[in-house]
Amino acid sequence: RKQYHVAPADLHNLNAVLVEKQAETQFQSYFMNISWSLSTDANVKELTATKISVNSKGIIEHFQCIRCYYTEKFQSQTAAGNQGWQFYYIGFPVEPETKYFIQAYNLPPANINDDFPSKSLLLTTPGCNDNVMKYSKSCIEMGKCNVRI
Ligand SMILES: *[C@@H]1O[C@H](CO)[C@@H](O)[C@H](O)[C@H]1NC(C)=O
Repeated sequence: RKQYHVAPADLHNLNAVLVEKQAETQFQSYFMNISWSLSTDANVKELTATKISVNSKGIIEHFQCIRCYYTEKFQSQTAAGNQGWQFYYIGFPVEPETKYFIQAYNLPPANINDDFPSKSLLLTTPGCNDNVMKYSKSCIEMGKCNVRI
């Protein structure tokens, strides 16, 4: 275990919304758009990656996780417009009527005796009665509605 003299900058905020992707099939596919921003902190220069994990509880229960690497070192604490750096990731598919527990933290992690700063949130997707969700593959296959024409 490596000791770091300084912990990397924290996440300033974490957010997730449902997005619809136009698919080439008769079904629509849905993903979460997870967005985050970095704290305006000199230690942003230490940051190498952000780890995001998603734990779902619904029809199926599972755990997924990704690591977003920053390809270059941050040269400044803020992005254009004097705002904290902002990012988003669209890659986790979602199912109807499922609870997603999303957690994110920056890497390298803080030292063992320091706080372990992470941000988390819960995203709950609507069921098949929802106007958007009803065109998902799972809902259509459950026979609760018709395919969009
Ligand atoms: C995802 O969220 C970010 C941050 O809110 C936004 O800038 C971006 O346009 C969104 N992308 C899509 C495809 O909805």
